[in-house]
Amino acid sequence: MCGIVGIVGKNNACKHALNVLKNLEYRGYDSAGLAFLKNNDLNTIKALGKLNELKSKFETLEEEIKDVLIAIGHTRWATHGKVVLENTHPILSENIAVVHNGIIENHDQIRLELKEKKVIFETTTDTEVIPHLLSISMKNTNNFFNACVSVVDKIEGAYAFAAIHSSKEEIFVARKTSPLVLGLGYGYNIVGSDAQSISQLVNEVIYLNDGDYAILNKTKIQIYDTNNMKVEREKINIKSNYNILSKNGYKHFMEKEIHEQPNVLINTIGSLVREENELNIFPEKMNIKKNYGITICAAGTSHYAAMVGKYWIEKFSSVPVNVELSSEYRYRNPATSMYSSMIVISQSGESIDTLMAMREAKRLNLKTTAITNVENSSIDREADYSIYTHAGPEVGVASTKSFTSQLIVLLSIAMKIAINNKKITIDKYNDFIKNLKLVPNFLSKILSLNEEFIKLAQSIKNSQNILYLGRGILYPLALEGALKLKELSYIHSEGFAAGEMKHGPIALIEEGMPIIMFLTSDGMEEKSISNLQEALARGGNIFLISDKKNLKKIHNIQNKVIVPSFQENWNDIFSPIFMSIPAQLIAYHVARERGTDVDQPRNLAKSVTVE
Ligand code: F6R
Repeated sequence: MCGIVGIVGKNNACKHALNVLKNLEYRGYDSAGLAFLKNNDLNTIKALGKLNELKSKFETLEEEIKDVLIAIGHTRWATHGKVVLENTHPILSENIAVVHNGIIENHDQIRLELKEKKVIFETTTDTEVIPHLLSISMKNTNNFFNACVSVVDKIEGAYAFAAIHSSKEEIFVARKTSPLVLGLGYGYNIVGSDAQSISQLVNEVIYLNDGDYAILNKTKIQIYDTNNMKVEREKINIKSNYNILSKNGYKHFMEKEIHEQPNVLINTIGSLVREENELNIFPEKMNIKKNYGITICAAGTSHYAAMVGKYWIEKFSSVPVNVELSSEYRYRNPATSMYSSMIVISQSGESIDTLMAMREAKRLNLKTTAITNVENSSIDREADYSIYTHAGPEVGVASTKSFTSQLIVLLSIAMKIAINNKKITIDKYNDFIKNLKLVPNFLSKILSLNEEFIKLAQSIKNSQNILYLGRGILYPLALEGALKLKELSYIHSEGFAAGEMKHGPIALIEEGMPIIMFLTSDGMEEKSISNLQEALARGGNIFLISDKKNLKKIHNIQNKVIVPSFQENWNDIFSPIFMSIPAQLIAYHVARERGTDVDQPRNLAKSVTVE
């Protein structure tokens, strides 16, 4: 979703701003722009499409604007108004420029008021009300800072914005719900949508609290809280991490992120398992109480992780688990008397739906636990307790390593609650930890089947519709497989619980339609295989991904990829983690065959900060 940058006090500010925007590309965008001051004149450069377009325009001016010391920039993911140059940020009014992420919910009302004052609108964005309000306020007060504060009082919604005025080398910024981070340089200051994006320019950052606003010049940052009081916020040291932008020889970030999962899971497991074979998870901090359940809220792939988590937590600890889509939970007046705890899962820690669901849970007196990949993200900072996935930066828009690391955390939570509640024996618990440590190595074996998934991808790449099936603990994997495929390859695909096929979806099957099924030996494999036979009998072109143990039972299925079997007692338990690899590789290779933009699929954003 939109990325914001602002730089004040640094020579060649536009070039640096462009580099920060490059680091924010992963968030997804469809146009980009810069505004800068040259001899107190406000100028803009804007381009539709990828940043290279903006860069080309910048390069024609580069020599002329090398000495520019102040610039703001933006990558826009369209919400209000089409992807056209007029709607591309920065949005101007007279000598004011604004970049904005989020949604101004009362923009219609403000637009009407401004039109009555004869203001002429040139864009169809919600953002445009901000520069116009600022212009009007400047006429009354002639004080840019006061004008900005009056706008913060007036606008509603979830937003982050940065504004500049041609009269002064300073940047005003404000955030409500959407993220914004300040960076402290030597003789210059910066603002960005996340810390990583500005880490090449600064060693210290300040995370603004929700509702904070601030004014930055080259030597000073002054922050104010929601009560308009000057405040100091903690300065945090960050390490520059250039490596995240390297593909390490892979063609796409997604490919790299799929293949680095064994190493990533070593980190995740290392952070969870203490030396003395104890899980570093504290159910007491999560407020897990006798006779009360847990609600898990998340979106997209993280929601499918939550669904797997439900199977594990209920199976091992008998604590009831309610899984909800974050975007639904917030508005449906949930009855919470049976629940004492909410877990939210978010790779980015910034998904607004999940942040809002968590705030709703807090309002309803649930203790909140965040499973997130990003320390100091909004969700991390607002949660009562956080467990980090330690997956490292994920650049590809589609979640891969973040999903498997979330699964590791969820299974560990299940086992820790189970041992605390005496639902499993200490031997079982120790055996779990022993086997958990074997998972990364085992994933490498599944990854070595890459060629088989390339072949599978080649045989389904021209299909118009594809179904994914799974049963029990692999049902959420069918949903995840279908989501991965549709978002990357744009092929219509749906996931179903195999047992549900006969209740409706079986009507979709026509001659030759690819049906991909994930199968593990969990005691239900016979039933799953029967479901598969039903699909086969109706002309479905079956592709079975199964562990080795089922080999004898699936002799009449032509297209299959057999994944190795894990340790006897744990094979089916860990199977969602193992089957994630086929789900990811199939989608990746189909997309690659079709030549789609694997790392930044159309219309998608990595960090979804609008409702
Ligand atoms: C799919 C995908 C999305 C995210 C969803 C939640 O590949 O990446 O569905 O899982 O937008 O994002 P987070 O986990 O950052 O809250």
